[in-house]
Amino acid sequence: MQIHSTIASLRAALAGAGRVAFVPTMGNLHEGHIALMRQAGPLGDCVVASLFVNRLQFGPKEDFDTYPRTFEADCAKMAAAGVAHLFAPDEREMYPAPQAYHVQPDPVQADILEGEFRPGFFRGVATVVMKLFSIVQPQVAVFGKKDYQQLMVIRNMVRELNLPIGIVPGETVRAEDGLALSSRNGYLSTAERAEAPRLHRALDAVRQAIRAGERDLARLEQGAMAELRASGWIPQYVAVRKQLDLQLPAAHDSGLVVLGAALLGSTRLIDNLEV
Ligand code: PAF
Repeated sequence: MQIHSTIASLRAALAGAGRVAFVPTMGNLHEGHIALMRQAGPLGDCVVASLFVNRLQFGPKEDFDTYPRTFEADCAKMAAAGVAHLFAPDEREMYPAPQAYHVQPDPVQADILEGEFRPGFFRGVATVVMKLFSIVQPQVAVFGKKDYQQLMVIRNMVRELNLPIGIVPGETVRAEDGLALSSRNGYLSTAERAEAPRLHRALDAVRQAIRAGERDLARLEQGAMAELRASGWIPQYVAVRKQLDLQLPAAHDSGLVVLGAALLGSTRLIDNLEV
């Protein structure tokens, strides 16, 4: 695997490399990332990954400074997963001057759910992903469903800005007890790690109830939040939405997804399940 810290080096290496399948990351890789990289393999002639902890998508009170940086281990995992080129710029390469032009996603899609609790998050994500797309110029890019709203925002950005890039969703990878793999799981204490799968179980209970015909979605959402609260969590939202645009479903809509975010101690966990 070749490692490029500059745009010029990456572009020179990719000239004539054929169809590029791209997986952007912020590092601290787990099996979920590796699955996306393996999925990218057959989608192109070469897999390019990026590793950049993007300051723009962190709020002032969030964990930008403490976000785990595990470069050597990440490189070994990417190489083993078949990544041919890693783009790992520093902040000066990505933001040589304060970023003055941004991609501002539609607030109807970006100021709800995650965006309500992380103001500016999707603006930061869309802006850096747009920059990465223009640097890497992939034909296809793989994004995990674990960040369901992020996947929707990127898909819509690509469509509305006419970018010639296919966006491919990757399934969430879970631990045996159901906990969705996440870089932030590493923040959990042993006791919190044992408690953490409750979020998945609460969302699954909502999913099962919908599948069984329950249509009082507000009651299901409130029930799941109450269960989390009773176990010491601070739930931020549990919401049943339409998969397509994450807007509120009408009475007999199908194609739903249950999404949740909650604090366990000081760790914020998110998860979702398609119904
Ligand atoms: O999902 C992530 O890891 C990040 O939001 C992304 C897409 C790499 C942009 O910084």
